[in-house]
Order: sequence, then C-alpha cells, then structure tokens
Amino acid sequence: MKKNRVVQVGPSPAVISQHLDRQYEVFRLWEHEDAMQALKKYGQDCVAAVTSAKYGFKNEWLDCLPNLKVVSSFGVGYDSIDAHELQRRGIQLGNTPDVLNDCVADTAMTLLLGAARGLVQADRFVREGQWPQADFPLMHSVSGKKAGIVGLGNIGQVIAKRLNGFDCEIRYHNRSEKQGVPYQYEPSLKALAQWSDFLFIMCIGGPTTYHLINDEIMNALGPKGLLINVSRGTVIDEAAMVKALQEGRLGAAALDVFENEPYVPEALLNMDNVVLMPHVGSATVETRQRMSQRVIDNLDAFFREGSVLSRVV
Ligand code: 8YV
Repeated sequence: MKKNRVVQVGPSPAVISQHLDRQYEVFRLWEHEDAMQALKKYGQDCVAAVTSAKYGFKNEWLDCLPNLKVVSSFGVGYDSIDAHELQRRGIQLGNTPDVLNDCVADTAMTLLLGAARGLVQADRFVREGQWPQADFPLMHSVSGKKAGIVGLGNIGQVIAKRLNGFDCEIRYHNRSEKQGVPYQYEPSLKALAQWSDFLFIMCIGGPTTYHLINDEIMNALGPKGLLINVSRGTVIDEAAMVKALQEGRLGAAALDVFENEPYVPEALLNMDNVVLMPHVGSATVETRQRMSQRVIDNLDAFFREGSVLSRVV
C-alpha cells in the first residue's frame, strides 16, 4: 500500500522520526536550504505535516501543500502556527496538552524557589570558596506568601496545587472568571499584580496576550515583587522589564521564556536578582516521551479515524 507523505518541518525526537520513517513517506523540510523551493518541488503530495511549537508552521507554505489535511505539533502552545488559517482551509491541527502540565508546573516552582532563596548565587558562593570568608545574605521566604497566576488554565491549576502545598494565598486573573475553582478571581490584572508577592505568567502566547505584562503591571508588582514566566516571552514587554529591574521598580524575575529565543538581553546576564532557564519547561525525558507519543498518536488517529486526538482545530 502506498504510504502517506508527511512533511517534517524540523528535527524531531528520535521516537517520532523512527515512527515516521516506518509508517510514512517523509520529506525533511529542514534539510533543504530554500524551504519554499523544496515545498514547490515536493509539497504537492504531502497530506500531513509534523512540526513543533519551536519550529512553527508558515502560512506561505500552504499554497505549495494543496493536499495537506493535518498538522501534528509537538508542544501545547501553537502561537507559531496560524490555527485559524488551517481551519479555514479544512486542515486539522493537533497539539500535546496535559501530558506536560506537571513538568511545566514543576519548572515554575523551580524558578520560584530558585529566585526567592537565591539558589544560583548560593551555589556560586560555595563553588567559588566564599563560604569560609562570609555568610550568605538572607533571602526571602516562599511559604505563606501571596501568589498571583495570570492564566489559570490546566498548567496554571497545577501550579496552584503546588503553591497550596507551600501555604501560599492564591488569586488569579483570566479574561473571565473560571467556574469551579477554589481561588479568588481578580478581574483587574493591575490589582492582581499589586496584591501579589509572586506573579506567575501562565497564559497563552500570540497576539491576544502580546506585552500584556507592561510597565504599568510591573510597577504594580513593585520593588519587592517577583515575576515568573513559563509561558511565552512575548507576554512580557522584555525591554520594559529590563529597565524596571535596572531601576529597582521590579524586584526580581525568573524566566524560562524570552521574546527572541534563543537570545537573552545582555543586561539580564549580569543581574543577581534574575534566574534564567533556556525554555525547558517541559524538557524532561519522561514528559518529552509522552509528548512525542502524542504527536505520533495524533497523526495515526487522523489516518485511522479521521480526527487527531488532541484537536486544536
Ligand atoms: C517545548 C512548549 O519547548 O509545549 C510548549 O508549548 O513551549 C514546550 O513544551 C516546545 O514544544 C518545543 O518545541
């Protein structure tokens, strides 16, 4: 039987590539220097695409893929893919939600504890042999503090569960109040920032949340506030954040995501009140295995039953 042809946008974890090689006929887009040229030549018969939140999917490719029926993407976020355009063309989009909730929430807690207790500086302090000469400065407690969550979706709720274990008081801001959650809704983002000791950014990326966290919100969080971001760099006005940190209007930041990844503003690199991670929210062996399996299952389910399992559109 003729195998279905899949365009693989970028390199995938081995388990995905091996499955694709076994079950499908694969066209590896990233191996071609000129993607448009390659798509014009080999795109005609592609019925599926495999990509990721990182590699995304460009609308300009679609005219070269007239038979595309499904896109299976690695990652829960799909701000790098135009879901509306895919829907308009009758193309399904599958992502990998839920399987990464625990790990991303754990990353948020790692950032919280790391920033509040000065983990990175403390480690450096010991390694550099400073301990015999001095006491490490006092840092800040986490337990019992006020935690605001911007975007109480599935991952936000797991973060809230973790924070509960630290006896934190929790409030959240969403576009609208969420039914059936035990946390206080704060309709004003500014008021939430004002109230919070820690502000977790957990909303989706893309145009609807672009620079949602601006100067006004960071000033409201204030010189003692800690800003934690494990969603998308674009949600924070990064230049404004750098300035607020430099001027002491914002206390600290703990960041896994940035506006222009993999590039991080130079100014952040020298700040002791900043913790930086290289977009590794879901990056554990166990979670990446589950995400890979979902990419495969979405694709296979589409060809078996006509619908991906985790369907965005
Ligand atoms: C991954 C992510 O880094 O799920 C997401 O939206 O941002 C992360 O889990 C990403 O999928 C890698 O492409």
